[in-house]
Amino acid sequence: MLRGMAHGHRIAQAARPDAAVGSSDSPRPWLPRASGSAILAAFAGRLRTKSEAMIQSKLPNVGTTIFTTMSQLAAQTGAINLSQGFPDFDGPQALREAVGRHVMAGHNQYAPMTGLPALREQVAQKIARSYGRRVDMDAEVTVTPGATEAIFCAVQALVRPGDEVIVFDPCYDSYEPSVELAGGRCVHVPLALPDFAIDWQRLSDAIGPRTRLIILNSPHNPSGALISRAELDQLAALIREREIYLISDEVYEHLVFDGVAHASVLAHEELYARAFVVSSFGKTYHVTGWKTGYVVAPPALSAELRKVHQFVTFCGITPLQWALADYMSAHPEHVDELPAFYQAKRDLFCDLLKGSRFTFTRSPGTYFQLADYSAIRDDLSDVEMSLWLTREHGVATIPVSVFYQTPPKDLRLVRFCFAKREETLRQAAERLCRV
Ligand SMILES: Cc1ncc(COP(=O)(O)O)c(C=O)c1O
Repeated sequence: MLRGMAHGHRIAQAARPDAAVGSSDSPRPWLPRASGSAILAAFAGRLRTKSEAMIQSKLPNVGTTIFTTMSQLAAQTGAINLSQGFPDFDGPQALREAVGRHVMAGHNQYAPMTGLPALREQVAQKIARSYGRRVDMDAEVTVTPGATEAIFCAVQALVRPGDEVIVFDPCYDSYEPSVELAGGRCVHVPLALPDFAIDWQRLSDAIGPRTRLIILNSPHNPSGALISRAELDQLAALIREREIYLISDEVYEHLVFDGVAHASVLAHEELYARAFVVSSFGKTYHVTGWKTGYVVAPPALSAELRKVHQFVTFCGITPLQWALADYMSAHPEHVDELPAFYQAKRDLFCDLLKGSRFTFTRSPGTYFQLADYSAIRDDLSDVEMSLWLTREHGVATIPVSVFYQTPPKDLRLVRFCFAKREETLRQAAERLCRV
């Protein structure tokens, strides 16, 4: 068996809609017929053998992500796509118009490597308003083409061959390849079910002499779980005597519900001193396709990150940065209104889903809602369930096991994205209630 065969991404690779694993007379030839895993394993093996003849992969365990797979399958089957995390509505009109204006005004050449000063200033002001921290926009704020690039650059800046990086499973899929490309190794610490809380004993056991970095993600994708201020204090105490750095992935920082305040590492003096805090304009302004984000870190860490960033992309896209700066300056209230905006969507979706056989607790943050389907098809793995739901019931979801190195046995959870228009959520829920 290939190393990491149990890992969801490999399954995702083999389950690609364009993969000819069914018979040609099948109405859906891309779908595995019998118990999928044997066929999928054989297919993955074929791919591997062919490509190995040409090149020794630096990322042998990476295939097409489940997000691409499910979105393609949704498009091919006409299913409502609640899988990949993006809104089916547009960002604010004034923001979109500003891009056109800046393109026509000639803002089309390279931006400064660290980001447009006007945008970094807006970020610094927002941080002061939201978290009470005064950051130096020149020394501490860097605009990047997406949070993904910020995370990649932070990892490359910190991780040396042989270093260990602690990630919490289920975890976002870009962390591990970034660490592997830096020559490091991820140590996966599972979050404790059912609340996806940090298991402090397991975390403490995972920390060793080679631990260089811990990657936090709150609000958490896929569970929506939040890290509290008290947990940040506990983490600070745990790593106080060690040279361990943090990446705090806070791309959903403004999607926190039920009146709870987001506990940002930016508001934690001791942790911020060793942290890269990452956010995404794509999430905050409903423009995920703009792939524009930023990273905030103390000057010495920012300097190291910038050494990498300037040779990965050099800078973010100029007119988008101008537009974001204009919009943030004119509408500082946008971020304050986001929790209520997304909470209404969560509540609508959850209220409608009450009429189904899915069980769930309302997501405390992000735009994702997990649901347990064991009362419906306990015989199916979550990957099979997601394929079945998409194919037979016209709603695409993401199986939670793909976010794990070693998924818990009998995990029966799928992730729905509720960043959708009301009519989309109603239509999807109607279908889900019939399952
Ligand atoms: C937890 C998490 N981190 C990072 C990202 C990437 O953000 P961006 O699109 O700005 O690169 C995402 C996007 O889905 C995410 O869910």
